[in-house]
Amino acid sequence: MVFGHLLAVPGAHTQIQGGATPGTKAPAQAVRFADALLQKMTLEEKIGQMSQIAMNTADGATIDDAIRRGKVGSVLFVTDAAKINRLQRIAVEQTRLHIPLIVGFDVIHGFRTIYPIPLAMAASWDPALATNAQHMAAREATSVGIRWTFAPMVDIARDPRWGRIMEGAGEDPYLGSRMAEAQVRGFQGTDLGNADSLLACVKHFAGYGAALGGRDYDSANISDDQLWNVYLPPFHAAVDAGAGSLMTAYMDLNSVPATGNTFLLRDVLRDRWHFQGFVVSDWESIKSLTTHGFSADAHDAAVRAANAGVDMEMTSHTYRDELQAAVQRGEVKLSTIDEAVRDILVAKYRLGLFEHPYVDETLAASELLSPAQHSAARAAAVRTAVLLRNEGNLLPLRKQPSSIAVLGPLADAKADTLGSWSLASHPADTVTVLEGIRSQFAQSKVSYSTGVEIERGQPSIFDGQFPSPKPVLKTDAERKAEFDRAVDLVRNADVAVLVLGEAQTMSGERASRMSLKLPGQQQELLEAAVATGKPVVLVLINGRPLDIVWASQHVPAVLEVWYPGTEGGHAVADLLAGTANPGGKLPVTWPRDVGQIPLYYADNLTQIPEATATRYWDGSSAPLYPFGFGLSYSTFKLDNLQTSSPVLRGERGLRVSVDVQNTSEVAGDEVVQLYTHQRAGSASRPVRELKGFRRVHLEPHETQTVTLTLKPDDLSFWSPAKHLRVTEPGTFDLWVGESSQATLHTTFSLEGAAR
Ligand code: NOJ
Repeated sequence: MVFGHLLAVPGAHTQIQGGATPGTKAPAQAVRFADALLQKMTLEEKIGQMSQIAMNTADGATIDDAIRRGKVGSVLFVTDAAKINRLQRIAVEQTRLHIPLIVGFDVIHGFRTIYPIPLAMAASWDPALATNAQHMAAREATSVGIRWTFAPMVDIARDPRWGRIMEGAGEDPYLGSRMAEAQVRGFQGTDLGNADSLLACVKHFAGYGAALGGRDYDSANISDDQLWNVYLPPFHAAVDAGAGSLMTAYMDLNSVPATGNTFLLRDVLRDRWHFQGFVVSDWESIKSLTTHGFSADAHDAAVRAANAGVDMEMTSHTYRDELQAAVQRGEVKLSTIDEAVRDILVAKYRLGLFEHPYVDETLAASELLSPAQHSAARAAAVRTAVLLRNEGNLLPLRKQPSSIAVLGPLADAKADTLGSWSLASHPADTVTVLEGIRSQFAQSKVSYSTGVEIERGQPSIFDGQFPSPKPVLKTDAERKAEFDRAVDLVRNADVAVLVLGEAQTMSGERASRMSLKLPGQQQELLEAAVATGKPVVLVLINGRPLDIVWASQHVPAVLEVWYPGTEGGHAVADLLAGTANPGGKLPVTWPRDVGQIPLYYADNLTQIPEATATRYWDGSSAPLYPFGFGLSYSTFKLDNLQTSSPVLRGERGLRVSVDVQNTSEVAGDEVVQLYTHQRAGSASRPVRELKGFRRVHLEPHETQTVTLTLKPDDLSFWSPAKHLRVTEPGTFDLWVGESSQATLHTTFSLEGAAR
């Protein structure tokens, strides 16, 4: 086990990495090996390495033949060890140069054992947890021969209508950067050559989360300020952490498609950040350059993608069909092809694929769903839950209630408990909330009804692979009878737990929404349950903030568990019973109404700042719950904020300390958050920016002093006035607290010349 070592990342929470990129430096030996191999390769073989095919779209015979003829460098969507070995044997034993394939898959939040979705992982505010979970996922995926994951997804998302908000770390570039680098470390381990290391692929470069109107694939128009200060930092952090590959995005960034974007792929990625891995397109996104009205035809698309710096084409075959002619005509230089292939071969070499191309086919049996996987998934699901409301301390349910009514379309829905991108999971492995409650509250009488059913109403791209259960109630009379039965169960129980939210296919790719309401009749069910007068706990399973204004006023306890994964039901039951204590915090601002979007905490101060909650005359413009918010069964008090000096100068930095006291009888976790604001400079700066955090565990009545260190680099930003990165001297506000509305305040000044 290697992750004990990986977890020790001193200072990682409080430092932005500088320009040095130690992890990305390709070892000289790997480069020499790749160069020697390049000498022997024909142009056709080189282009083969730049081509990836999907196993779920082409027929087996065609793929075998293409591999045999050296036309394939990578395959994706094959998850069975024997099948992977069979394909690998063709590549290694039947091709002229014996170059192994690199097998890729979307290992996003687990492989066979599913962990909470990435947005949930960010809600843990615990990068070490993300490292551990992705290491566990890597163990499972590599046990079947997969050595490349298309993760982490590090797109900043400030629009919950966008379905893919669930795949990233939310709205904040600082939290997003820490989660990005943590995941890279988890996937890639201490050495890519370890048999259980997966090559990470940071995606989608860049700006995909800013899709207009939250509509998946729509264009993103992002100012330079927002691009450099908000959208790019998590990519930079992942590159600095050594991410071995990067995926382009589907959309236009400021009218230039990301997959043909020389500025992004050469100027930023290679020249400024010194990225040394390889770049893969998104699915058919090279072919789509023509659809965008960017390239004239497939030939032009291949030429422009290759010249922009896309090294491998995912699933479309413009490279295979067009690049040879393009090189012969001088439209793409041979040196460009060589650079692309070198980076791909270096990755294969570093993964040890030339020496050990095959996987031990007996490995998966002991790794998949192992006890260690189950317990890590359960711990992760506990640690990612966010308690949004707990009036009268309804939670935890103090004793074994004599009866519990468990209601809702997600209470016993296995696939829906997993969330999107769980493609290698088996829903049957999942513990639902109902099952978790039944086993945790064994002395209680547990009754159950779906109450209402929910349906997406439109097909999902994942329907074929992973269908959600279809509604079984066919007539209005049947639906009414089930609804009434559910409400009766509440009347006859001590307490009701309603498990509501969104089904698996309601969030993820091509799963954007124009409303944030609870789908279907779930709101009505909730209101009817509350109207019985019985205590109601709302457990939310979902991948984005939803409209829960009514619940925030009328439902005593609201527990956000996101899509909690294979062990989700056990984890929820642990939290309800109080054998575990929620400690997560929101990684996104939670709006009241879809009309407020985009709504994020780090906006700029503008006219009449004291009235930011009254920007609309027809409702509040304040969030329902702020970024960084989350309750606990414990209570905490933060005080004694101190800085090591009134002045921040030099690399030793400013040490900021605060005392955190658990003022309750219950052990629990608090997340100490540090925010700053630059009062004046070459450009307006956000009202607050997260610059450090730490999640700490405190026993009853324990006090700990938490110290976070601020460095000058943490305060640097890309100035839209100066068109460069600056660190500007002057006065800064500093707050420390439990959310983005932290109140402990001081100031300090930053000394030194402006850069
Ligand atoms: C398209 C998605 O945008 C991307 O995130 C994913 O990795 C690929 N498909 C492969 O499944």
